[in-house]
Amino acid sequence: MKTTQTKKRTLIKYLFLSLFLSLPLILILLYFHSQLRWTARTTTTVSLQEKQNNPESSDELRIRPGYSSYEAYLQRQLNKTLNPKLRRIWTTRDWDRKIQVFSRFFEELKVKNLLSNQSRALCIGARVGQEVEALRRIGVSDSVGIDLVPYPPLVVKGDFHNQPFENDTFEFEFSNVFDHALYPDKFVGEIERTLKPGGVCVLHVSVSRRADKYSANDLYSVKPLVKMFKRSEVVHVRTIDGFGLDTEVVFRKRW
Ligand SMILES: *[C@@H]1O[C@H](CO)[C@@H](O)[C@H](O)[C@H]1NC(C)=O
Ligand SMILES: *[C@@H]1O[C@H](CO)[C@@H](O)[C@H](O)[C@H]1NC(C)=O
Ligand SMILES: *[C@@H]1O[C@H](CO)[C@@H](O)[C@H](O)[C@H]1NC(C)=O
Repeated sequence: MKTTQTKKRTLIKYLFLSLFLSLPLILILLYFHSQLRWTARTTTTVSLQEKQNNPESSDELRIRPGYSSYEAYLQRQLNKTLNPKLRRIWTTRDWDRKIQVFSRFFEELKVKNLLSNQSRALCIGARVGQEVEALRRIGVSDSVGIDLVPYPPLVVKGDFHNQPFENDTFEFEFSNVFDHALYPDKFVGEIERTLKPGGVCVLHVSVSRRADKYSANDLYSVKPLVKMFKRSEVVHVRTIDGFGLDTEVVFRKRW
C-alpha cells in the first residue's frame, strides 16, 4: 500500500518534472507556429515579413517597429480612416481647400504633359477622394481612388500593398500616403505593376518632417524611393508645399 503510494508520488513528480523541462520546447514550437501563421497569412497579400531583411530599409528609409501582425497594422490604419471626427473634417472644412490645392498640382502636371484628360488615373490612399474629385473637375474623368474604406463614387476599397487592378491599367497614379506603407517596396511594386508602360507616378512625400503617429515608415531622402522604382525613371524631384509634405517625386515607367 505504502509503496504504491510512494510510486504514485514519484510518478507524478516525474510527470511534472518532464512537463517543466519540456516547457521551453513547447514555447519554441508555439513561437514558430505563430510565425508560420503570420507568414502564411501575409503571403497572400504581402509577400513575407520583409521588415527586418528589407534591403530598402536603410538609414534613409526606416520602417517603424511595433506592428505585431499585418492585421494589427490594418487595424491601426483603419482607426484613422474611420475616425468620424476626421471624416467630417475631410468632407466639410477641408473639402474645397484641398480640392483647390490638388487641382493646382494636377494642372501643373498637365502643362508638363505628365497627365491629360484621357489619362486613366488612380489615387492611392485617397480617403474621401478629394484628389479624385480634383482630377475629375479638371477634366480627367476616368479617375478613381482606393483606400481600405470605400467612399463611393470616388473611392473604391483596396489595399495599396495589393492593388485590386490588373497589370498595365493606369496612365497616371498619385499618392501622398507613402509614409503609411508598412512594405514600401510592395507599395512601389504594385504601382509599377498597374501602371501602363510610359505611365506616370507622382508621389508627394515628406523628407524633412516626421509624419503623423499613423505612419508606418519615415523617409529621410528620395534616394530609397528612386532605388525602389526599378522599372521607372525619375522625371523630376521638386520642393512643394502640400499639406505638410515637402517633396514631389515623379516617375515614368519604362516602355
Ligand atoms: C481607435 O482607437 C481608439 C483607442 O486607441 C478607440 O477608442 C477607438 O474606438 C478606435 N476607433 C476606431 C474608429 O476604430
Ligand atoms: C480637359 O477638360 C477640361 C474640363 O472639361 C477642359 O476645360 C479642357 O479644355 C480639356 N482639355 C483638353 C486638352 O481637351
Ligand atoms: C503582372 O505583373 C507581375 C509583376 O509585374 C508579373 O509577375 C505577373 O506575371 C503579371 N501577371 C500577368 C497576368 O501578366
